[in-house]
Amino acid sequence: TIELKTLLGSTGMTTLDPGFSNTASCSSKITYIDGDAGILRYRGYPIEDLAVGATFLEVAYLVIYGELPGPDQLKDFSDKLRENADIPADMGTLIDAMPRNGHPMALMASAVNTLAAYYDDSVDPGDEDQVELATIRLLAKLPTIAARIYRNSIGEKPISPDSSLDYVDNFIRMTFGDTHADSELGDLFNQAVGMLLVLHADHELNCSTATVRVVGSSKADIYASVASGLNALSGPSHGGANQAVLEMLEQIRDSGISIEDFLERVKAREMRLMGFGHRVYKNFDPRSKEIKVLASQILDRDDNPDELFALALKLEAAALADPYFTERKLYPNVDFYTGVIYRTMGFPNNMFTALFAIGRLPGWVAHYREQLHDPAFRIARPRQHYVGASERRLPGLE
Ligand code: ACO
Repeated sequence: TIELKTLLGSTGMTTLDPGFSNTASCSSKITYIDGDAGILRYRGYPIEDLAVGATFLEVAYLVIYGELPGPDQLKDFSDKLRENADIPADMGTLIDAMPRNGHPMALMASAVNTLAAYYDDSVDPGDEDQVELATIRLLAKLPTIAARIYRNSIGEKPISPDSSLDYVDNFIRMTFGDTHADSELGDLFNQAVGMLLVLHADHELNCSTATVRVVGSSKADIYASVASGLNALSGPSHGGANQAVLEMLEQIRDSGISIEDFLERVKAREMRLMGFGHRVYKNFDPRSKEIKVLASQILDRDDNPDELFALALKLEAAALADPYFTERKLYPNVDFYTGVIYRTMGFPNNMFTALFAIGRLPGWVAHYREQLHDPAFRIARPRQHYVGASERRLPGLE
């Protein structure tokens, strides 16, 4: 049930809409979602087509600039990203000085926040050239930052960007060195990461994108706004769910609890079934369908499914056979099957949300930029429904 109340207070009529379930705060041309029909389109293109027919850089360009790039535009975009992939030496030192065991999302958000200090020639939201420069820097450097944080966490030296490689291959090499390229599954893994980034590229006003818009609405610069988006994404109800799903699967496996008993605990509200449910999708999440197919290509080779993938399949089937979940329209979301894929590639659980962030960055940037050109642009300033004490006086001043 959604609680939506219209309140008449001293400041006029106000709508109380917890979680903004029914409140549109802007008009946008970027992403279309029909949650009942399970439809997701970026700039009009169905997600299913983009997943198989476009690279992540093409999709990033589409989401940010509104059209698919022509060959020259794509080359120019890609060249700029390659040229800007390095981070300043001081920033590398700063990342290296952060706690090695800190959560990568906390470290990434901190590093991105400092970009404004390193690049103060691109912080003015009123200057289109500066916003464009900051866009390129963010897209170019986020994979370098994420890979460096991962290398630090395992006590390994950073690997510099290689300008001969494309965006995804470069990120994988900066993370794992040449081991993945040499492995039997190397190409498949790189393609899978590319597809997963495409599937994450935008999702209209989800919690992190709404945060980027809210922060940007104060005319804060794009680095500060994206750093805020990273923080919003980190929570387990949002992007942090991909890590939480894997931990849930490991917990089920390690504890030996049956799936039926585990679901009983969920139904008793002791915990949530992570990777299930969505504010907008009340039928199925189209991204989840694509990711499940990808997971079976990678993890169900020779009909010998990976142990945690097999467990996830059983958990999904049991939940979808249970009226508790179907009556509440709870289906697997984007996070349910991503973790098992990332895990098999060698990413530790706490890096999963960082991968989500690399994918979502084009969306954050696109919304920040769209907002700057919105004729209805105003600082975000919701109202509240005050339920506190009425006027009181300090003792002695009554
Ligand atoms: N497990 C068990 N019950 C659930 C779940 C779940 N994952 N999600 C919702 N419910 C139940 C609620 O208990 C509630 O039941 P009730 O009406 O009997 O009280 C009902 O379904 C509606 O739930 P709400 O919390 O009102 O739904 P809301 O839209 O606010 O929450 C959310 C959406 C946060 C995604 C929720 O489904 C959830 O916590 N899922 C698990 C975490 C997760 O996977 N998050 C990733 C979402 S996708 C993304 O952000 C990238």
